[in-house]
Amino acid sequence: MLAKVLSAAVVGVEGRLVEVECDVGAGHPSFDTVGLPELTVREARTRVRSAIRQAQLPFPRTHVTVNLAPADLRKEGTCYDLPVALALLLASGVLPPGCLDGWVVVGELSLTGAVRAVCGVLPVAEMAGRLGLRGVVCPVDNGWEAGAVPGITVHPATTLADLVSALTLDLPPLPVAPPTDVWTPQARLCMSDVRGHAMAKRALEVAAAGGHNTVLVGTPGTGKTMLARRLPGILPPLSPTEAIEVTKVHSVAGLLSRSGGLLRDRPFRAPHHTASAAALVGGGSLPRPGEVSLAHSGVLFLDELAEFPRQTLETLRQPLEDGSVMVTRARQTAVFPARTMLVAALNPCPCGYLGSRTKPCACSPMGLDRYRSRLSGPLLDRIDIQLQLQNLTASMLRLSPPSDTSDEIRARVCAARQVQADRYGSEATTNATVAMAALRQKSPLVPAVHDLLLRAIDAFGLSPRAHDRIWRVARTIADLGGAADIGSDHVGEALQYRHFDERVSAVQPPTRACGQAGPSILDQPSEI
Ligand SMILES: Nc1ncnc2c1ncn2[C@@H]1O[C@H](COP(=O)(O)OP(=O)(O)OP(=O)(O)O)[C@@H](O)[C@H]1O
Ligand SMILES: [Mg+2]
Repeated sequence: MLAKVLSAAVVGVEGRLVEVECDVGAGHPSFDTVGLPELTVREARTRVRSAIRQAQLPFPRTHVTVNLAPADLRKEGTCYDLPVALALLLASGVLPPGCLDGWVVVGELSLTGAVRAVCGVLPVAEMAGRLGLRGVVCPVDNGWEAGAVPGITVHPATTLADLVSALTLDLPPLPVAPPTDVWTPQARLCMSDVRGHAMAKRALEVAAAGGHNTVLVGTPGTGKTMLARRLPGILPPLSPTEAIEVTKVHSVAGLLSRSGGLLRDRPFRAPHHTASAAALVGGGSLPRPGEVSLAHSGVLFLDELAEFPRQTLETLRQPLEDGSVMVTRARQTAVFPARTMLVAALNPCPCGYLGSRTKPCACSPMGLDRYRSRLSGPLLDRIDIQLQLQNLTASMLRLSPPSDTSDEIRARVCAARQVQADRYGSEATTNATVAMAALRQKSPLVPAVHDLLLRAIDAFGLSPRAHDRIWRVARTIADLGGAADIGSDHVGEALQYRHFDERVSAVQPPTRACGQAGPSILDQPSEI
């Protein structure tokens, strides 16, 4: 007898329907799986046989063929165990015909018949909703993920035996607790722990409000890592739409906790500098999301930026520009979202003391050149806010006044994000990501202010891209101040955050002496 159960594959972060067909026919006892199965799918037969026996159900002593259609889509993972077992039980007459019509089934089986959690249930449930199917049968631990999709009925499964009795007796599915939708600030590192660095804190507030890429340059121990690690505390929570998008990526990567709940905190990913290009942008024979996608709608923090191999950093250019990354492999192409805020920290030179007030730099010109050559100009050109941190003196540490807490800063950031959402009609669009044409149209510069910006471009030899970037940052500064129009003071402040690229190289001769500002690591020929 032939039976069919619907299941799904996940390509990128989208579910694709897979039909699991099972034929229990005459012939010697054997079990064939066809339809481009990977090793984990071929191994399903061992788990399915044991789980059916442990559930005290009959396993056919004849020839069993399982086909996973469409046959040109590679099938990987353990999520086909449960649909294969149910298709087999339908085909051998144990389950009543039609009991699984309209349900999409995913789940791993243990040898004892327990149903184990799998990756990617959220995209599968979304697909079921999109196709107007009845619902999703999935492991109880993934129930909340499927339940996060509005209008989807979830049939959580604990063991194969319980599921078969529920389907045979046509019992209603057990209720699934809906994912909690209330965001509460977590106990986090607070910005007020950082002494001094008022300008850096203000710049990080602007970066968080507008989603601007930021780089922090400074001698060792100035607090670069400390500041960057406090960014999550000043970012607004994810909107409901963003929460689904972000949770989908983490679901596909198998990073969700079983206790459940949509992710509401913006991700903060800090890969080590030994990470490969595939780890950063995604890869694998069946593509998996990389760090830039796991940081979608949040922050990708690259500490010790200059230690990352140049080729690895180059792979980030396209995702940063497009907000998504396409991973192409021999048999599959997947697109992952990658709209992230890049935050980087680095020393100004290999010894770390170039431009230090207290220690001379011990680097050779060749060592300095090698260090600089690791960072590409086009990558740095995509960074809106460039800050140089100076070491704090003892008196600055002692006398620095108490600064705002992360909660206070976050309140201002949330208000500025709301202004941007209202202006652009989308919660996910920020001043950093909105199309320049839209920004020009919705927030034009009055002639006097534009004239100031153009004069700065001329005076400091800034690139046209820098012109646009300053406009974007000035818009965010105006939003933080509650101003409807961009004023000259907003442009002036935005210009300060471009201080270390073209301006220093244009105005100051390179020097490496102790106590004087040296050429910045960010000095790169500008693209005009
Ligand atoms: N501004 C500051 N206020 C309070 N503590 C600070 C400050 N700057 C540095 N510290 C202290 O110094 C430690 C080291 O700072 P951090 O790791 O941020 O330095 P860094 O700039 O990242 O250095 P490196 O270049 O070596 O990575 C912090 O954990 C903190 O204890
Ligand atoms: Mg550091």
